[in-house]
Amino acid sequence: MKRSIAIAMAVLLALTAVSVSAKKIGDVVIGSNIYSFADNFMNGVMRPEFLSYAKAKGVKIEIVDSEGQQGKLNDQVDIFISKKVSVLAINLVDPAAASTIIAKAKAAKIPLILFNKEATEKGAMASYDKVWYVGTNSAESGIIQGQMMVNDWKANPSWDKNKDGVVQYVMLKGEPGHPDAEARTRESVKAFTDAGIKVEQLALEADPNWSTQFGNDKMAAWLTSAFGKKIELVICNNDGMAFGAINACKAAGVKLPLYGVDALDEALTHIADGEMNGTVLNDGVNQARATVDLAINAAMGKDPTAGTTWKLTTDGTKAVRVAYKAVTPKNYTEFKKK
Ligand code: GAL
Ligand code: CA
Repeated sequence: MKRSIAIAMAVLLALTAVSVSAKKIGDVVIGSNIYSFADNFMNGVMRPEFLSYAKAKGVKIEIVDSEGQQGKLNDQVDIFISKKVSVLAINLVDPAAASTIIAKAKAAKIPLILFNKEATEKGAMASYDKVWYVGTNSAESGIIQGQMMVNDWKANPSWDKNKDGVVQYVMLKGEPGHPDAEARTRESVKAFTDAGIKVEQLALEADPNWSTQFGNDKMAAWLTSAFGKKIELVICNNDGMAFGAINACKAAGVKLPLYGVDALDEALTHIADGEMNGTVLNDGVNQARATVDLAINAAMGKDPTAGTTWKLTTDGTKAVRVAYKAVTPKNYTEFKKK
């Protein structure tokens, strides 16, 4: 009898467990992850900023590596919940798996900030009043990259090697289904067609890991393929893959117009050396800061942007979107870390 009452009480307690908002900032514990520590941008730009900004704010943060596996992330979220973190800051592995994570946070009554990979399932963000997104306007990066390429193409008639007035390009795409990869792939090319310039895609390959190795391997294979000599432009969805393409071009003794996205330090060096023609600043520092600021406010039961300069969208996406910026041979020195 005693035992069954104890069990019944334990069940009741578990069912009625209400997560209590952190009372002071020093009580805030953020449970966070990066979809893969192997990712140049996420691990090289966002993770260090998360750690240093959280430290400066006086909050605890734990960041785990989801190793590119959504199943692993689901388990990591369960562990954070059992540890009673005050808020979750989650980088989805699969952008189509947001509803699973949102449901877990909602059941545990823990606020949730998603960052970098925007949920793609319809209605997911509306299913919980304490979930928000921090990222960018994905299309903007492709539009900016496209405009840079169109301007440079027009200014450099020699880039049209076969003089047919058509841009023969190859595309290194990021993760299929990732809003950034889809929008960059579409918008970068659309900039040419919008400007009345014809394009011909010679090849497109996609890598869920956005990696340098993949960029190197694909570019090396393309350069030695039947269309290798026809390539006039290399469009990369991110700098990581662009670095690989640069290596492959160098190894083959070839120099081609080549563009990335992210504006990693190494990209600025490649622009300085004339090996890359441009990139787009993906402002990971401010995305990390916004994520931490929203997480702290949400953990303390405040309005997510209270006391900050971040602005939430009003179109139902519940997002803070940090702006992208063009990085060219003319202005790249402005983006060097001080
Ligand atoms: C993008 C970034 C890529 C990669 C990806 C991971 O925003 O440009 O380099 O980090 O996020 O989701
Ligand atoms: Ca041509």
